[in-house]
Amino acid sequence: MEKQMVIRLIISLSILVMVTEAAIDKTPKAVEKWFKNLPYAKQKTTKFHFYFHEIFAGDNETAPVIAQANITAQSPTFFGMVRMFDNPLTIGPEPNSKQVGRAQGIHGATSLTEIALFFDFNFVFTTGPYNGSSLSVVGRVAESQEYRELQIIGGSEIFRLAQGVATAKTYFSSNTTVIVEYNVIVRHY
Ligand SMILES: *[C@@H]1O[C@H](CO)[C@@H](O)[C@H](O)[C@H]1NC(C)=O
Ligand SMILES: *[C@@H]1O[C@H](CO)[C@@H](O)[C@H](O)[C@H]1NC(C)=O
Ligand SMILES: *[C@@H]1O[C@H](CO)[C@@H](O)[C@H](O)[C@H]1NC(C)=O
Ligand SMILES: *[C@@H]1O[C@H](CO)[C@@H](O)[C@H](O)[C@H]1NC(C)=O
Repeated sequence: MEKQMVIRLIISLSILVMVTEAAIDKTPKAVEKWFKNLPYAKQKTTKFHFYFHEIFAGDNETAPVIAQANITAQSPTFFGMVRMFDNPLTIGPEPNSKQVGRAQGIHGATSLTEIALFFDFNFVFTTGPYNGSSLSVVGRVAESQEYRELQIIGGSEIFRLAQGVATAKTYFSSNTTVIVEYNVIVRHY
């Protein structure tokens, strides 16, 4: 009996935490207060593991080409090609696995001599306690590397002033799709 009560209390407490976290005050006054309190705020570490699905050709493209240079067509490394993407992030590698967010931004082929992309995008969370919060990511993804390391340079709401590391590893690729496994670790307040 008592055990059940404790469990119920824990469940209602965690619901309370989720609700308060979902309603972060974004008014300038509240942001300033949050900022001033920073020296006393405790740092937290959060980890994520998810899969990123990009369809770059054929039907249902999620990453169309938005710009390229005249020399791109002759370049063996696609130098100058820029794509805008809005790619689903899912818990498992299957395309119909539960979606937890989107990766939204651009990447561009940035090397004249190897296949390497410059990335600039946000992980935008759409479920659970992180719903509405985002992490900003930049970095270089070279085809020659097994693990590509990207930098988490900031974030919004729960992830204000976040810093961290994301590693990306190709899980699957075809002539239309690439599925990338991401491991993310961030420090935030
Ligand atoms: C991808 O390859 C398949 C054959 O494996 C082909 O039928 C299809 O047209 C190709 N798609 C693109 C967009 O190149
Ligand atoms: C594209 O999306 C439509 C609608 O969701 C779906 O029926 C179709 O199978 C998709 N095409 C591919 C190649 O996944
Ligand atoms: C790029 O190619 C187009 C079409 O061939 C041409 O009109 C334009 O002058 C070229 N631009 C440059 C910067 O070479
Ligand atoms: C996430 O937040 C949006 C906007 O506040 C809301 O419409 C949506 O229902 C939320 N989704 C989940 C799964 O909580």
